[in-house]
Amino acid sequence: MSAEVVVHDSAEVLAAATAARLITALVDAQSARGTASVVLTGGGTGIRILEEVRRSPARDAVRWDHVEFFWGDERFLPAGDPERNETQARQALLDHVGVDPERVHPMAASDGKFGDDVDAAALHYAEVLAATARPATDVEVPVFDVLLLGVGEEGHTASLFPGTPEVREDVRTTAAVRDCPKPPPTRVSLTLPAIRAAREVWLVTAGAGKADPVAAALGGAEPAEIPAAGAVGRDRTRWLLDRDAAAHLAS
Ligand code: 6PG
Repeated sequence: MSAEVVVHDSAEVLAAATAARLITALVDAQSARGTASVVLTGGGTGIRILEEVRRSPARDAVRWDHVEFFWGDERFLPAGDPERNETQARQALLDHVGVDPERVHPMAASDGKFGDDVDAAALHYAEVLAATARPATDVEVPVFDVLLLGVGEEGHTASLFPGTPEVREDVRTTAAVRDCPKPPPTRVSLTLPAIRAAREVWLVTAGAGKADPVAAALGGAEPAEIPAAGAVGRDRTRWLLDRDAAAHLAS
């Protein structure tokens, strides 16, 4: 199934339009199944989308206490650290809407029950995913309705970086990642098998620095070289871009 590409005039329009799209997707999932499941991403674009959701007049069309929140990756830092994706997501949206705390599933912090054992933190998240899994997928993760991802300038997505063992992982659903080129260096990430269990994968990125990895991923690059190329949804894969990030795509 080929990916869909949508190009917006600017990073600002991209974030606002993706927020509107996300609200609609969550409302539709809840209409169909009573609940919705979303995987959040870190990074500037991912957080800006959540801020636009918070500001949207349509925001509360979503029954926020019937949304399951997961993360695609997390920086392995103490709870509440401003660099944690969870901290930024809570400040951008989660603390402003009526989420059900039992349905918010952050990845462990480095001062939590696993201490500084990032392998144990990754294994625990795999157990969290398995506990909420549905038989519909051939990996032990929930059927995520929408899985949001950013893209790095060298093609990383979540915390899967080019040429690493984690991007080649084809069984486990999570990975502990060390010495990441993008600081902070230690992270927990979903793997491609977990990402591919999502109904829809939305890769959202902006800026001229992403034009090369976007063109490479959509041009058939191998996931080992451009991890974002391996992020495909079961039913749909969307690349949501601004003009600068789309600049090297064949018109
Ligand atoms: C992280 C993100 C990471 C991010 C990309 C894009 O924890 O850093 O998960 O994958 O989404 O690096 O980040 P920008 O949107 O800021 O370019």
